[in-house]
Amino acid sequence: MMKCLLLGLLCLALTEGLVRVPLVKKKTIMKERGLLKEMLKYAQYSSQQGYFESLINQNDMAYFGKVGIGTPPQYFYLHFDTGSSTLWVNSVYCNSDACNSHPLFNPSQSSTFTSNQQPFSIKYGTGSVQGFLGNDTVTIGQLTVTNQQIGLSTSEPGDHFARPLHDGLMGLAFRPPTYQTIVDNMIQEGVIEEPIFAFYLSRDSESGSEVVFGGVDPSHYEGQINWVPVQQNSHWQLVFEGFEVNHQSTGWCDSGCTAITDTGTSLLLCPPQYVDSLHQMLGAQQDSNGNYVFDCNAVSSLPPLTFVMNGAHLHLPGTAYVLQDEDSNSNCQSGIRASHEEYRNGYPYWILGDVFLRQFYSVFDQGNARVGFANLA
Ligand SMILES: *[C@@H]1O[C@H](CO)[C@@H](O)[C@H](O)[C@H]1NC(C)=O
Repeated sequence: MMKCLLLGLLCLALTEGLVRVPLVKKKTIMKERGLLKEMLKYAQYSSQQGYFESLINQNDMAYFGKVGIGTPPQYFYLHFDTGSSTLWVNSVYCNSDACNSHPLFNPSQSSTFTSNQQPFSIKYGTGSVQGFLGNDTVTIGQLTVTNQQIGLSTSEPGDHFARPLHDGLMGLAFRPPTYQTIVDNMIQEGVIEEPIFAFYLSRDSESGSEVVFGGVDPSHYEGQINWVPVQQNSHWQLVFEGFEVNHQSTGWCDSGCTAITDTGTSLLLCPPQYVDSLHQMLGAQQDSNGNYVFDCNAVSSLPPLTFVMNGAHLHLPGTAYVLQDEDSNSNCQSGIRASHEEYRNGYPYWILGDVFLRQFYSVFDQGNARVGFANLA
């Protein structure tokens, strides 16, 4: 049974007895790069190469990648999160329960670590982390970024970060004003040629999830990439112009809706003022806890949701927005919940979490301040 907590922009899963799944390694990076070059020529995009990193899909609730910190690298599984900025990791100075049974970063065993002991603290909706900042080398697959600022946790109250695999967090927000994300540093240090990264998020807990830095992976999508501009200094926040249920406009976004594109949120978050009407239109029932559920056997006949973004119609079928829970015989939970704000910048406020992002190949283009969505191959 999956439970979902909202931690600000993060929606984390609490799961028990999870087995660590080995990473699927991309066999031939050079071959992929060759492919990418061909594709990019075709697509008239100038990127020359991309660096691939396999991600682990944790019960369709969170996606983790293996990251090395320090020299020699100490390895951790970090939650890859486009909805926050900071890269932080459990450290040997952390005494919280959440740090138990996790690998802990020991800066005294890294020859490249520097720190002026500046404190940091991040508050999420229902959890927080505190510690101090340092700089060190970060290794992601074939990529090496030197002098990346990282947070070393000293305190992680509660059990939000206690779950398996969560050794820390890799913030990938769009040009945050007060912090250089690892992508900002990759660009500054010239380790990627194009300021772009892209996600393929697998479904049904399957392996094969992947993020590419410096390019896109043509084997994961087909057709064109539909681009939507994002606002400066935002968490990949975009404005879109329409929302349909069963190909009928709801009118809710006719004057614009705003949405954050967030790999770190598990579900699709809808403006709270529309959650009930939306589920009524979809024919959902409420269970004894007040959660919206669907008949598991009727998921394939549910109406599609359509987001109209910069002219493109992006469809989300029932199989995407209903959580298929193997334990449950007849009722399946809705993958749509209320966001924590009705409006942002005057527009109804959505968060496009993994429920949405699994349906598309998603491209985060920092250079051109836009997000792209393409149909999966
Ligand atoms: C740490 O790295 C950041 C970039 O992530 C850089 O701006 C800062 O100057 C570095 N600090 C030190 C002390 O090198």
